[in-house]
Amino acid sequence: MHRRHALGLSVAALAAGLPVLARAQAKGPFKIGFILPMTGQSASTGKQIEAAIKLWQAQNGTTVAGRKIEVIVKDDGAVPDVTKRIAQEMVVNDKIDVLAGFGITPCAFATAPIATQSKTPMVVTAAATSVITERSPYIVRTSFTLPQVTVPIADWASKNGIKRVVTFVADYGPGIDAEKFFKSEFQLGGGQITGEIRTPLKSPDFAPFLQKVADLKPDAVFCFLPSGQGAAFMKQFGERGLDKSGIRLIATGDVTDDDQLNEMGDVALGVVNSHHYSAAHPSAMNKKFVQAFEAANKFRPNFMAVAGYDGMHLIYNALAATKGQGGGDALLAAMKGQLFESPRGQILIDAQTRDIVQDVYIRKVERVPSMGNQLYNVEFDVRKAVKDPGKAK
Ligand code: DHB
Repeated sequence: MHRRHALGLSVAALAAGLPVLARAQAKGPFKIGFILPMTGQSASTGKQIEAAIKLWQAQNGTTVAGRKIEVIVKDDGAVPDVTKRIAQEMVVNDKIDVLAGFGITPCAFATAPIATQSKTPMVVTAAATSVITERSPYIVRTSFTLPQVTVPIADWASKNGIKRVVTFVADYGPGIDAEKFFKSEFQLGGGQITGEIRTPLKSPDFAPFLQKVADLKPDAVFCFLPSGQGAAFMKQFGERGLDKSGIRLIATGDVTDDDQLNEMGDVALGVVNSHHYSAAHPSAMNKKFVQAFEAANKFRPNFMAVAGYDGMHLIYNALAATKGQGGGDALLAAMKGQLFESPRGQILIDAQTRDIVQDVYIRKVERVPSMGNQLYNVEFDVRKAVKDPGKAK
């Protein structure tokens, strides 16, 4: 009763009315429904992922095992109630085969019950709170988790002379993950947390929080903010003179986001951070990816674009594995355990957790003369095949 209500009655009615026929006719186009923030403060995430979808299809075609692939992109403005309504419409009216996208964690949470009830695989290509994959057995993730990218920088910090840290995170799922996992790893390495600051997700003014950092005078501030907020943070960090105060900035790569890094300018130079993707990753595949992406768009791909590109790769592989038949459970089974090379390096979808296993790099922001004198996250160390520490209980 409760379940039916949550999904809307029309699904049940449809399922009862057209059982066999609907399946037979399903050999029409295979539909992938992406729900992305194309407007609002997370719009850069939607812009990056949509560009990556287009690039994937330009390079790999729009037919898999005889099925025409149809991608539908809808804008939720990163508003969870809107995400949920669009997901219902996509499942009930558009009869999509796979749900994908989800720019921020609350939007993924809002959709999880719909994936479960309709047995539709839900490929998360952006949101990164650890627990998301546990909200539905139909969720598979190609992005990353905050614990996965935070533990390496915490470990690096404690081994590189940093003793006292103030954490500075966006006040919602991924920020809480970053704060918690930074703290435990850093303390394990002998470090001390001397302050914990949380900033609002919506339209944050960082100034008062940065003043607090200045007052606390730690050796370093560890920062996580979602994609799209890094440039504003960095600007205010510089305006308050924090870059010259002796307080180091360390971060997850969400802050030194390739989408905005060049705008940040010199204040970002030297920031050590950890993440799973840099546009400067020196593999042959990545060089090709970045070149094609930049030729098609007038901007650089970031970690969101790569997760969207790999999400398409995962879905294409799964459909091919079912010989074009599809079906929620068959697709899901085919997604589990997939291993392939991404522009970021090798990635694996852990068959047990359905979460991504990947290398995490320690990087430093540098101006790179051989790459047009632009700012890049230059990788200098790597943790291989990192599983989400949020699940390794
Ligand atoms: C999330 C969003 C981001 O833009 C990001 O960089 C990391 C996490 C999220 O909401 O899960």
